[in-house]
Amino acid sequence: MRTIEKYKEYVNTSMVKAIEPVVIERAKGAVIYAEDGKEYIDCFAGIAVVNAGHCNEEVIKAAKEQMEKLIHACTYVYYIKPVADLAEKLAQITPGRLKKTFFSNSGAEANEAAMRASKQFTGKYEFIALQCSFHGRTVGTLSITGNMGRKRNGGPYLSGTTFIPAPYCYRCSFGLSYPNCELRCAKFLEDVIRFNTSGSVAAFFAEPVLGEGGIIVPPPEYFKEIKAILDRYEILFIADEVQSGFGRTGKMFAIEHYGVEPDGMTMAKGIADGFPLGAFIAREELANAFKPGDHLSTFGGNPVSCAAALANIDFMLRENLPQQAEEKGKWFMEKLMELKDEFELVGDIRGKGLMIGIELIKDENKTPALEEAQRLRDLCREKGLLIGVGGVNGNVIRFQPPLVISKSELEKAFDILKECLKLLGED
Ligand SMILES: Cc1ncc(COP(=O)(O)O)c(C=O)c1O
Repeated sequence: MRTIEKYKEYVNTSMVKAIEPVVIERAKGAVIYAEDGKEYIDCFAGIAVVNAGHCNEEVIKAAKEQMEKLIHACTYVYYIKPVADLAEKLAQITPGRLKKTFFSNSGAEANEAAMRASKQFTGKYEFIALQCSFHGRTVGTLSITGNMGRKRNGGPYLSGTTFIPAPYCYRCSFGLSYPNCELRCAKFLEDVIRFNTSGSVAAFFAEPVLGEGGIIVPPPEYFKEIKAILDRYEILFIADEVQSGFGRTGKMFAIEHYGVEPDGMTMAKGIADGFPLGAFIAREELANAFKPGDHLSTFGGNPVSCAAALANIDFMLRENLPQQAEEKGKWFMEKLMELKDEFELVGDIRGKGLMIGIELIKDENKTPALEEAQRLRDLCREKGLLIGVGGVNGNVIRFQPPLVISKSELEKAFDILKECLKLLGED
């Protein structure tokens, strides 16, 4: 039986419908090699994961060496060096007073830990989150996710979360334009706290750049305005950097663009270049809300994943990957702007570093071009380019390649994208 048939028969996963299924055999850097010999430039990086490139040799070496020594031990009884080293490293590279880390296997579990610690620390029990947000697929994290597309067929979720409009300037919920809006969406937080909650809000969760919601980049002053309100009401700020972290937006963490210090931060995806690992780092007082035995994951902080993460972070720092992302992203966004002038389908181009979204629209009313986005993804795949499609309306092309992608690969990706936009017009 071939891989595709076996998937159909035995694998319980929600594969997105694709015209031509691709079986991947191996990958290197920003290139994926399929079983049938075809090559693809990977501009989605396994959903924004392999920031240091597919099969990075330094990461592999560190993981192999750790594998020879220890793969797993009981996480709540024994002390393991790469776990301690990684926690120390995270305290060094994250902003402000973030210091102590709880390790999990995934982003969702990191957010679950943040939710629980926030409640335990504050003694409060509600949350506020953003519309258009995504925080994971557990019942808890779907409760703080502001997107019906992700929550469909799973409710009811936990009560106690209130959502505020996202800082989605292209589709402002208040019908305003930045900067004349004077950040109404951020100021609205205070109304929501006063009128929609019981006043017992433990934490506000937000992605500093919203990923799944459609690469939504909040205005520069947004989080300062939000943090001032949160401080007045003694509400914690948890930055979900699962997708925006580890160099993706041109800084090690996206919240650094906004000059505010979160009380806690969650991470996963880019932390270990593809090895499964999640983390929730917090200020010491917040982290200490967990007492021995309170919270635990059997595989969380797996020594092999931690060793891989350490090598990954060292590689990122030495190669200045955040800066590379900023430079390459700036250059690529400028090129993409050409497409905005040439194709009416291209409504908006936005992003930071190599976290870039292209929002496709059908007309001047900005009707989301959902089918066109899917067709564009399929056409690009046929021509050897892998891109993502997302957004709350399903009409945003997500461009999130490994940060090590070369200029010539970016040029090739641009040419394919442009060719496919032309083909789409001829359909
Ligand atoms: C911002 C954000 N938070 C949390 C998650 C969930 O992470 P995981 O799939 O590792 O559970 C994701 C995944 O896409 C994400 O983008």
